[in-house]
Order: sequence, then C-alpha cells, then structure tokens
Amino acid sequence: MYAELIRPLLFRLDPEQAHHLTLQALRMPLAAPVLRFFFGTQNSQPVEAFGLRFTNRVGLAAGYDKNGVALAGLEALGFGHIECGTVTRIPQQGNPRPRVHRFPNQHAVINSMGFPNDGVDVLLAHLERTHLTRTRLGINIGKGKDTPIERAAEDYCALYEHTHARADYIVINISSPNTANLRSLQSRTALVELLSAVAETRRSTAHRPILVKIAPDLNTDELDDVLDAIAQTGMDGIIATNTTLHRDGLPASATELRGGASGAILTARSTEIIRHIARTTSGRLPIIGVGGIMSADDAQAKFDAGATLVQLYTGMIYAGPRLVRQVAADSRQ
Ligand SMILES: Cc1cc2nc3c(=O)[nH]c(=O)nc-3n(C[C@H](O)[C@H](O)[C@H](O)COP(=O)(O)O)c2cc1C
Repeated sequence: MYAELIRPLLFRLDPEQAHHLTLQALRMPLAAPVLRFFFGTQNSQPVEAFGLRFTNRVGLAAGYDKNGVALAGLEALGFGHIECGTVTRIPQQGNPRPRVHRFPNQHAVINSMGFPNDGVDVLLAHLERTHLTRTRLGINIGKGKDTPIERAAEDYCALYEHTHARADYIVINISSPNTANLRSLQSRTALVELLSAVAETRRSTAHRPILVKIAPDLNTDELDDVLDAIAQTGMDGIIATNTTLHRDGLPASATELRGGASGAILTARSTEIIRHIARTTSGRLPIIGVGGIMSADDAQAKFDAGATLVQLYTGMIYAGPRLVRQVAADSRQ
C-alpha cells in the first residue's frame, strides 16, 4: 500500500513538506495504537549494545524527528531505538530552502538542512511528556551554527549536561556536511580534545554511553585516527555513517546541489567503513550501521560486516514503514 498509494501522494509534495506531513500524521492522538496494530507485532531478538538492552536491532536515524515530536507514533512502527536531534543549544533555522531533494530513480536524497531545530529546551519539554516503553532513546547533539569551531566543545559539553538524564545514549555528531567546518572536528587532535572535554563533563555528572557519528568520506588513515581518539577517550561506540559529499551514480543536476547524499548510493560505502572498523577494533567497539539500508538484505550486510545495531532514514522514504519490521524480523548475527 505504501509504494502504490502513499508514496506517490507524498512524492507530489516538496520533500520537506512531505516529511512535515508525515510527522504530523505520526503525532495524531490515535496514530500510535493504529500503527501498533498494523506494524507492532514482531518476531525479533533482543540485543545488548554498550551496556543497554534493545528490543530489536533496528533504529530510526537522527534527523527524522529532530525535536522529538512524534516519538510515540514512531515507537509504534516497531523501532528498537530512536535517535532524536541533531539538537543545538539554542534554536536555529538551518539553511535556506529548498534543502531536501529526492532522486527517485536512484533511491537517493540530498539534504543541506544545517540542523534546523527548536533548541534543547523544547526537545526536553517534549521528552518530558513522552514515555517510551519498548524503545531506547538516543539524543544526537551538535554544534550551533554561530558557535566558532574553536569553542565547539563548550556546546557539546553543555548539551551532554542538559540532555543525559533524558537519554539512554548520547551521540556526538561531528560529521554533518551542512555546518561549516564541523567535519574538521574529526581530525585526530581536534577529536581527542573534544571527546576528552565531553568525557570530563560525563565524569562530573551521570554516566551515559557516548557514541561518535562519523562521515563516510574519511580515508583509511583518517578513520584510524578517529578510532584511536575514541579508544583514547573511552567513548562507547561509533555510528557509521552520516551522508556523503560524493555524487557517484546521481544525475548531473546533483553535482550542483550543496549538502550530503543518502540512500542507495551510500549502501556499499558505509558497509565498507563498518567492516574496516570491526576489523581494526577486533569487533570490540560497538557499531551502529547506517547508510543506504533500503531492504532487509542491506541491513544484513551491515550486520555481517560487524554492526550490532542499524538505523534507517532514506529507506523509510522509499520503502515505507514496513521496512522496520522486515529488518527487525530478518536480522541474524
Ligand atoms: C533530510 C535528512 C536530515 C538529516 N539530519 C540529520 C541530523 O540532523 N543529524 C544527523 O546526525 N544525521 C542526519 N541525517 C543523516 C542520517 O541520520 C543518516 O546518517 C544518513 O541519511 C544515511 O542513512 P540513510 O541512507 O538511511 O538515509 C539526515 C539525513 C537526511 C536525509
């Protein structure tokens, strides 16, 4: 029904408008029980990762519900975890529109959102009113647009302090291509400095697992530097990957667009990165695999490469909500 009826209707709308409409539908009062009826029952295995038990291996990637407005409806789709954010300390509008573009023939999306969000206080107010029963909640935190890159650690530390009590895990997002210079934080010295500061904040507050979300465009040396920084500072896991700057396989019009590409063009690259991380760390660093999971087979390839959990975003746009249950039910490790 999604591919025949709902997707064609949504694809007539501007992508961001379609997304807004979907979130509105998911937050309607009866959405959760109705969706649970259609999507809820699952034949899936619980799994442990970074000290937490998850009801299944599939989660919703960051950026879908940035402000945590539709968590109950999203839980009813069967996600074992949901990552809200990226959230910043103060509200910000993000980049000018249009900033999301679909490439239906390639099952891809390019976005240059730039972390539009209502700020951490609004997110926390929404979380205060939400009680998830089966689904773990991650909060993905990011540097504000107007914070100079040299002071990025202040944002991440303040956000850890503000959000950790409401989160099962926290994600340090340093890999969005849509905030100027953000990805420079992935370089070895900058990353050790940043993660040490957040680790220090964690020591003086309560402990939550912290994961680092990386870009798919790092070369092997850069990736190994990130892994060293994670090990050195005692971080708990890695999320691989964010969107890519590459445009391989997309039409010429895509090369003119700013932003990061997601969906099928990212599938192989992010799996390759996961495999490298798993080998380099001898499987000891928990990996959440994300990037171009458009089918249960794509998810299985990420588990086979070494991911413990996976996340979806663009696959939800093209394959619809049934993908959640398919991945949860089919995944083996
Ligand atoms: C419209 C859009 C907005 C996104 N916003 C965020 C974000 O705020 N924070 C983040 O860490 N990742 C964000 N992402 C990246 C996704 O979480 C994911 O890492 C990436 O899209 C690759 O997965 P996919 O191919 O399944 O979409 C966004 C992706 C899209 C398509």
